[in-house]
Amino acid sequence: MPVITICFASRYGQTERIANRIAKQLAQQNCDVLLHNIVLDGALPKSDYYIVGAPVMYGNAWTPMRKWLAAHRETLSAKVVAVFNVNLTARKPGKRHIDNNPYLAKLLALLPEGIQHKQVFAGALDYPSYPWYDRLMIKLIMHITGGPKRCGHRIDYTYWPDVDRFAEQIASSTQ
Ligand SMILES: Cc1cc2nc3c(=O)[nH]c(=O)nc-3n(C[C@H](O)[C@H](O)[C@H](O)COP(=O)(O)O)c2cc1C
Repeated sequence: MPVITICFASRYGQTERIANRIAKQLAQQNCDVLLHNIVLDGALPKSDYYIVGAPVMYGNAWTPMRKWLAAHRETLSAKVVAVFNVNLTARKPGKRHIDNNPYLAKLLALLPEGIQHKQVFAGALDYPSYPWYDRLMIKLIMHITGGPKRCGHRIDYTYWPDVDRFAEQIASSTQ
């Protein structure tokens, strides 16, 4: 049974929740799965299959993930890799598809060619967790893009059946 390692970074927790859900789904399909938070440990663990999960912050994959990919791109080029990108633009159905989400293309440019599965997931809007400057900037972005400008709780925009489907695709390509 191949070992699948989910390498993720998560600033406010949603990418980690998605990574956990994928891990749970893969385990239910009898896959051998490991979760690896690259912010806590910047190494690339030995594995047969990698899933890379990156949130978008200010127009790009969050900086720790960009640095990690730069460090491990060459090693990853000899591996089988799947990727998912998490951002709030994808809360709009027309921006959720892999061909029309601008951030997935940017993330793919940091990865080796030949990524086996790619996916974009809408993330979460979590005003209570943001420090004042992030809150201000996100309010501005929400003002421009027609989203909520204040909310006392986290809004989860992730469409979880798509997360499960992504995990199923990976499970069937590794078995
Ligand atoms: C400071 C900040 C900047 C963000 N910048 C963008 C952005 O440029 N485009 C976008 O679509 N989403 C943006 N988002 C939304 C995040 O990608 C989304 O909230 C995601 O769920 C964050 O993942 P995490 O909870 O794993 O950190 C931003 C969020 C924050 C807090």
